[in-house]
Amino acid sequence: MKIIHVVGARPNFMKAAPIIDAFDQHNLTAGEHRRVQQLLVHTGQHYDREMSSLFFDQLGLPRPYVDLGVGSGPHGEQTGRIMEAFEEVLEKEMPDLVTVVGDVNSTMACAITAKKLCIPVAHVEAGLRSRDMTMPEEINRIVTDAIADLLFTTDRDANKNLEREGVAEEKTHFVGNVMIDTLMKHRGKALALPTLQDLGLAGTSQPLNYALVTLHRPSNVDNKQTLSEIGQAFSALGETIPIIFPVHPRTRGAIERFRLSHLFAEKSGVQLLEPLGYLDFLNLQANARIAVTDSGGIQEESTILGVPCLTLRPNTERPITIEQGTNRLVESTKGAILAAFDEAINRGKGATKVPELWDGKSAARIVEVTLDWFARCKARI
Ligand code: UD1
Repeated sequence: MKIIHVVGARPNFMKAAPIIDAFDQHNLTAGEHRRVQQLLVHTGQHYDREMSSLFFDQLGLPRPYVDLGVGSGPHGEQTGRIMEAFEEVLEKEMPDLVTVVGDVNSTMACAITAKKLCIPVAHVEAGLRSRDMTMPEEINRIVTDAIADLLFTTDRDANKNLEREGVAEEKTHFVGNVMIDTLMKHRGKALALPTLQDLGLAGTSQPLNYALVTLHRPSNVDNKQTLSEIGQAFSALGETIPIIFPVHPRTRGAIERFRLSHLFAEKSGVQLLEPLGYLDFLNLQANARIAVTDSGGIQEESTILGVPCLTLRPNTERPITIEQGTNRLVESTKGAILAAFDEAINRGKGATKVPELWDGKSAARIVEVTLDWFARCKARI
């Protein structure tokens, strides 16, 4: 069996890594005819060292077999470039399966390209729905799930979403959350790093006293009024708690373009950092008093780490992180952020329920289901 795994953007790397690793583990014991040949394709949607190659190094991902080098661009252009370049790879390699993860443009573009060549597609993290069609990710999720042959879900709500959309039940497999596989594997190594000392955050008092912030959604950072409201909230909060903010390139560009640097400034208690690698970020997240974010992955990771999480969005495709975890949705206004912050700090860190099958073994389940699927396909030929 030959599989092409696709990655393109930062959140893909921690999802693909445990899957590739689990197939490698399978290959160690499998007989020759059951071994799986794996090729990793990087679309190059993200290309900065801090957004890409650093993650390959830290997560032990193999060098990509090919980097399509598509880079940034408007949605249509970026998607088109990925499809054109990926088609060439597929025509040459003709794999038995293409695996895509998450919900970025690379996910959807490669799924469509494969299906048009009649190559089966597996989608990892299928069935998540925000029901917000202004999010490019929601469109990517719906399109990818509509055409995928194997749909791996992180929770039972996702299975229900897929059922409602008419996806045949036998295609859908509830396997848990591969990103949590990665978190569990690397937590010890991350906590041993001197990240807090390096940032001057190491203190004797517990819980450590800083807020960790990430923001990159167009709905928060592409509008001057909204980004200004968020900046005003941070500079007010910065008087009482250090705000540690590793900045996504899109967000850094917006802060400069809208001339809002004064609100995201050291003198207001806001420390802007370059984007961090996986391990340093995990260290910071695990030790934070609170996380403020619009990322999907951080909502899930904070649930496992028990760190209160404020998500600056009107909706989430990951409601389980609210029902069972530490996540709360907050409007992106100064008043709402300050009120929610107070409430969350008072609530403090707490024990949360670990969602079902978020147990570090999700990738192994994916391997098992995929091998079984392949054996059935072959039996049909
Ligand atoms: C993409 C994903 C989003 C994911 C996010 C994680 C889509 C539609 N969006 O958003 O779901 O949560 O990645 O980061 O696929 N840039 C650089 N260097 C890089 C990458 C990006 O400077 O290595 C800058 C470029 O100016 C680019 C901008 O960031 O135009 C946005 O990058 P893009 O890949 O279009 O979307 P993200 O906002 O990163």
